[in-house]
Amino acid sequence: MVKIQLETPFKAGLQLRRYPVNKNETLQAWDSADELLLEHLAQQGPDALKGKRILIINDQFGALSCALQGFEMTTYTDSYVAARAMELNSRGAVKPIHDLKELSGKYDLVLIKLPKNASFFEDCLAHLTKHLSSGSQVISASMVKHMAKASFDHLQKYIGTTTTSLAEKKARLIFAPFQKGPVDSPYPIHVEMDSFEVKFVNHSNLFSRERLDIGTRFLLENIPAGDFKTILDLGCGNGILGIQARKRNPLAKIIFSDESAMALQSAKINFERQFPESAASAEYHWTNCFEDQTPDSVDLVLCNPPFHQQNTIGDFIAWQMFTDAQKAMKVGGLIRVIGNLHLGYDAKLKRIFGNSKVAASNPKFMIIDSKKYK
Ligand SMILES: C[S@@+](CC[C@H](N)C(=O)[O-])C[C@H]1O[C@@H](n2cnc3c(N)ncnc32)[C@H](O)[C@@H]1O
Repeated sequence: MVKIQLETPFKAGLQLRRYPVNKNETLQAWDSADELLLEHLAQQGPDALKGKRILIINDQFGALSCALQGFEMTTYTDSYVAARAMELNSRGAVKPIHDLKELSGKYDLVLIKLPKNASFFEDCLAHLTKHLSSGSQVISASMVKHMAKASFDHLQKYIGTTTTSLAEKKARLIFAPFQKGPVDSPYPIHVEMDSFEVKFVNHSNLFSRERLDIGTRFLLENIPAGDFKTILDLGCGNGILGIQARKRNPLAKIIFSDESAMALQSAKINFERQFPESAASAEYHWTNCFEDQTPDSVDLVLCNPPFHQQNTIGDFIAWQMFTDAQKAMKVGGLIRVIGNLHLGYDAKLKRIFGNSKVAASNPKFMIIDSKKYK
């Protein structure tokens, strides 16, 4: 049985679960970097956090935000999965913000769970420079194996001189007092994409933000045209699949969904830049996979599934995406999925839909179709 109770120096017996909640869960909702950071804060003395404006960035499932709920604390995440976990684990008391533009005023103490994506970390730090004063402290926490040189470089560039804690249970803290001035973030970036005349606007936390992914390119070449009234771009990233689908099916409504708020912001900007006259014919859903959506409402689903959520690798997200898609599809609807040959999405789709067939393949990727018959 996985441990769900975290004893912290600030709150005893925190009950923390991952999201989506799964009774057979084998992974804990916190790691020793969370514990090390909370221990460090407690060692500063009982009044060290009192009266301080605290900002938490990229908390995973709420270990930090739930423990520090009693203080003047704001928590920012780009992830719907993390935001839902924080809300559920705090019984609604923690309400994360999910846009860096919502940062306000000056923060005395910033606690960051190092993200896997160094560009996203850089974007967060650049935004922070406008919300720190001299005397503000930034403490980043991570498992040692996930600490990259780029994290130190970005901290030194945007915040100040870094020092580290001793490693404990394979976790470490990086301390940086604010010594720099305000700067603008280099994100979002404008990127040319193959045959698209209008450049794409890519936020920092996007999949393949600097260039077109080769799997995406292959699926782009194989977007169907037909009698599709509603098309879902599931796990949309910058929205390129939905945008291409709209080009091939000019009367269709496009639904973009992703668990990254930045992905949806990019998809929205990109759709509106590509089709300035048709902004109203798209919807944007910040959600986990496509859970709790209207059943029997979608004619075509396009999906290039992720194979990790932050540092957790696995096919659990693809499974949920396919089962959520199946519920949302109309009878007669089609799902078209791309994956590396070894991922075996054809077998998964066959288990869910009762059928699957290869629509196209190349030496690296396979595009698989399944239909909903009942
Ligand atoms: C491989 S990328 C594909 C992006 C884009 N469709 C493309 O082909 O370039 C997978 C996308 O799934 C999103 N994603 C990851 N976990 C998710 C989840 N639990 N629910 C919804 N979207 C998720 C990621 O944010 C990412 O944008």
